[in-house]
Amino acid sequence: MEVAVAGVGYVGLTTAVCLADIGHTVACVDIDKNKIKSLNDGKSPIYENGLNELLNKNKDRLSYTTEEKKAYQKADVIFVCTGTPSRSNGSANLDYILDVVYSIKKFSNKDKVIVVKSTVPVGTCDKIEKILNDNSRHKFYVVSNPEFFSQGSAVKDMLLPSRIIVGTEDLYSIEVMKKLYEPLTKIPYCAPYLLVDRRSAEMSKYAANNFLALKIAYINEVANLCEMTGADIKEVTKTMSYDKRIGDSFLNAGIGFGGSCFTKDTKAFSYLGKTNGYEMKTVSAIVEANKKQNLKLLDEVLSNVDNLNGKKVAVLGLSFKPGTDDIRESVSIINVDTLLEYGAEVNVYDPMVLDSFKKLYGDKVSYYDTIDEAIKKCDFAMIMTEWDEIVSYDLNKYRKYMKKPIIFDGRNCYNLEDAKKSKIVYYSIGRKKIGKDKI
Ligand code: UGA
Repeated sequence: MEVAVAGVGYVGLTTAVCLADIGHTVACVDIDKNKIKSLNDGKSPIYENGLNELLNKNKDRLSYTTEEKKAYQKADVIFVCTGTPSRSNGSANLDYILDVVYSIKKFSNKDKVIVVKSTVPVGTCDKIEKILNDNSRHKFYVVSNPEFFSQGSAVKDMLLPSRIIVGTEDLYSIEVMKKLYEPLTKIPYCAPYLLVDRRSAEMSKYAANNFLALKIAYINEVANLCEMTGADIKEVTKTMSYDKRIGDSFLNAGIGFGGSCFTKDTKAFSYLGKTNGYEMKTVSAIVEANKKQNLKLLDEVLSNVDNLNGKKVAVLGLSFKPGTDDIRESVSIINVDTLLEYGAEVNVYDPMVLDSFKKLYGDKVSYYDTIDEAIKKCDFAMIMTEWDEIVSYDLNKYRKYMKKPIIFDGRNCYNLEDAKKSKIVYYSIGRKKIGKDKI
């Protein structure tokens, strides 16, 4: 099938490359010339596990362009994968999507199926369909097809999806979508294929993301209470996970979620409630609790020091989670900002995103590509992201290199017994504090 994908961010590029891998011919369109150049040079502008390999494997079926007209005219199906960032009132900004929609309308020369993969408020596809079909010579069939890609495992999430949700009630697009995804619903992939009405498909994405965010916010509150009462969150979540109704995922307590998805989708869901005259109380609670949790480690630091001014800190892990080069809404940012406000000297380490961090902070912080160097002579260290390099770091080295081996771990990377043995001062989330020394 001839496909065009509008927007080559994490979602668009993964979608395009995987659609090519299952046999479709895909034209990727983006207004960002640098991204398109990099793709034409055979290199993915973003890091996503397995993406570059797949991109090269399927290069004969993939093309990249900034010229919308050619790509949109040729395509039978156009995927809309542009971002929907938060506006200041929390609502989803649909400007990038509408730019694509108007350009599809302008350049189209035949009937087309338009697939909205971006996360959009319920009712958006209806609006898009109206814009496209008003006074048009061609017919546009708009389908909602939310993505459930987790950054770092997006390729796997597209090729071996937990479910494919297709929201449409129109017979023509039902047939086209079935054919498009057929390779994934057959052996060996056998993906569950759920055909639902369009509004339910749009809602399903917000409902899922907010539920996952709720699990995290809830377990973090339990962790905070564990600290106060002497219980251990790791033991507590282990016992909970044996209940199949609860499961064992998204129960890792820490300094809260970051990343563009949960941050914007919790706000947008809350806003969607408000615009319908309904307050989503659980969702407002997620936003509030997570905001507080993002600074939990720093609160602990502040209660351990008289004055942060001039203290040297190593911030370990900067991306919003391991396995990605994305720092959007990363918890490290708000923590580094606050440390700098307090006058601390900040060293940062990350195995992947030092360059993007440099663009944000310039010479305000010092950059290191090894943990050994980053922690040297530091008064304390803060762990923000559970990269393998951090989790497997020899605890004795903190004692060897730091001025004082005081570790504040926002991702519960280490075992308490190991921390005790290596004689470091170790504060984590929802567990007992090891050691006493103050900063
Ligand atoms: C999330 C969803 O998991 C995907 O299903 C969805 O498709 C995607 O958003 C999206 O809307 O596009 P993602 O943001 O890539 O994926 O990352 P997650 O693995 O969900 O992690 C989000 C944040 O939650 C990270 O900061 C992570 O550290 C944190 N987290 C996750 C926890 O604090 N505890 C956990 O137990 C799990």
